[in-house]
Amino acid sequence: MRPDRPSDTAELVCAWRALEALLPVEERLVSDPWARAFVGPWRASLLDLADRLPARARAALARQVDRALQGTMTFVLARHRAIDELIAATPRATQVVLLGAGYDSRAVRLEPALRGRTLFEVDHPATARRKAALAATAYGDAPRARVVPVQVDFERDSIEERLRAAGLEVGASTVWVWEGVSMYLDEPAVRATLDLVRGLSAPGSLLAFDAWCPPAGGLARLARRDLPSLAFRLLYHEPLVWGPPQERLAPLLREHGLTLVELVEARALVARYGARRRSWLDLSSMVFVVGEVAP
Ligand SMILES: C[S@@+](CC[C@H](N)C(=O)[O-])C[C@H]1O[C@@H](n2cnc3c(N)ncnc32)[C@H](O)[C@@H]1O
Repeated sequence: MRPDRPSDTAELVCAWRALEALLPVEERLVSDPWARAFVGPWRASLLDLADRLPARARAALARQVDRALQGTMTFVLARHRAIDELIAATPRATQVVLLGAGYDSRAVRLEPALRGRTLFEVDHPATARRKAALAATAYGDAPRARVVPVQVDFERDSIEERLRAAGLEVGASTVWVWEGVSMYLDEPAVRATLDLVRGLSAPGSLLAFDAWCPPAGGLARLARRDLPSLAFRLLYHEPLVWGPPQERLAPLLREHGLTLVELVEARALVARYGARRRSWLDLSSMVFVVGEVAP
């Protein structure tokens, strides 16, 4: 990402959560009424235009955007929901760390589940500053979890130093969330993050993340690795970088002291939530992964 500019992909996925609100409640993968407040002007104008449509047309529009994105939006929403569920189902974790928090509104959305726990929102300084500037107005009086913002550039700064300075309880049971981030990093930064999780938290702590695992050769590589990466570089200034083969994920976790709990391909994750009605070309190369800190 550009060092001085907030992440555009963070705003993009937040806009997808806002777009989801155009669907009937029973069809939504995630309900995030706060997402809209973090969407920048041009995307917000499009959402405002959509608001003026009758309900059926609004929902049809949201479904069409989803289809046009070939499953990526659906996966992004499904991973958000899977992580919500994981946090709620792990009350033993006294702290939750969002690595690359973006415009995540779990501080308010999951406030009941986070009560008594600390939520560390770790992000690049430029994104973190934009979020801080908007959050006060966005959240208003809504009950909020205890949030500790932590500004870090994953490729330059020591995340460990910043987290320790921010008051992370070292050795405590923790849920780590690394959502939509690993693919923008180089492999040393990915490995350093796995070491961090292992080094700072108790055995049994969980790491939920998603990885981009496109084909390694042939035309499929061009269509699903090279072109998407170029598109992300040109459109968002955030090229897709780390794209390991799926089979490498479990050994990689093991090398860093974590065991694989779950690895789910995009289509299966979406199907888990009964979102099959959103027909899509399966061009997503994403997988959702949960690892556990080994004893
Ligand atoms: C696609 S967004 C995902 C945001 C959020 N997790 C979500 O799903 O809504 C990627 C996030 O990674 C952060 N990020 C990317 N590169 C980073 C870096 N080098 N250091 C710190 N944060 C980084 C961005 O600021 C952004 O918040």
